[in-house]
Amino acid sequence: MTLQLRKACIIGYPVKHSRSPLLHGHWLHEYGLDGAYERAEVAPEDLASFMAGFAGKGYVGGNVTVPHKESIMACLDAVTETAQAMGAVNTLWFEGGRLCGDNTDVVGFLANLDEGAPGWDARTRTVVVLGAGGAAKAVVYGLLQRGMERVAVVNRSFERADALRERFGSRVLAAPWEALPALLGETKLLVNTTSLGMSGQPPLAIDLEPLPSGAVVNDIVYVPLETPLLTAARARGLLAVDGLGMLLHQAVPGFERWFGVRPQVSAALRAHIVADIVRTNP
Ligand code: ATR
Repeated sequence: MTLQLRKACIIGYPVKHSRSPLLHGHWLHEYGLDGAYERAEVAPEDLASFMAGFAGKGYVGGNVTVPHKESIMACLDAVTETAQAMGAVNTLWFEGGRLCGDNTDVVGFLANLDEGAPGWDARTRTVVVLGAGGAAKAVVYGLLQRGMERVAVVNRSFERADALRERFGSRVLAAPWEALPALLGETKLLVNTTSLGMSGQPPLAIDLEPLPSGAVVNDIVYVPLETPLLTAARARGLLAVDGLGMLLHQAVPGFERWFGVRPQVSAALRAHIVADIVRTNP
């Protein structure tokens, strides 16, 4: 009997930019596994037919990225409670012949903070989150799951912040940008989920002065790795946590499900991805 190669893929449109193949390729090599991780560029109008033939193409699962994270849910047999709460899926696998979906951005975000700022959740009961887009949804949900008493969401468009309050309930406070200085004075954790500070975007220009000493600043932007926000946080003597670990940690559950090994987020993996970021964004 010939054993079929275990194959997973990243489904997106476009997918050229995705670092997931680099990441999973590193682990496949590191653990000496006979598997493959491919790119699958699938246009929105082709998603349903692609997914109908997914198992037939030999895939044991995969990741999902823009623009399919929401629309893929209609193609699945089951989704986790987390994915349901997000209304978005980024990881697929088969279980008893059923195609299942999860959203691992939540555990990725929390694991990154746990690694970069151990004990953060014992030091603060309130958090300020900048931004109210797709990434903010996973961040806010994760913070509430960790028992934060109040998550203040500050966004340029107030309606989107308010939509998160409606989605996740009264522990979420939607606030306009002008409220930021006062809110910063009451928190020990600030998380940026906006695209400001990303390569090609304007920097996130906010005054970190009101943050108390001992506060943590986390940027989920990781290109560049050191954003102007993180530089400003370090200059103020605050603990700065970059966003790369969120990408690395969100990949762990998928790899484990497809290839049967729980991979480590090691310094070598991080260096491998950092080298690619530096090479593509000199
Ligand atoms: P993602 O899925 O990565 O979160 P998104 O849903 O497009 O991406 O969200 C981008 C976030 O960055 C939003 O919070 C957006 O604010 P708006 O909701 O007001 O658009 C924020 N953002 C992007 N450019 C911005 C800018 N120039 N100033 C302030 N906020 C900005």
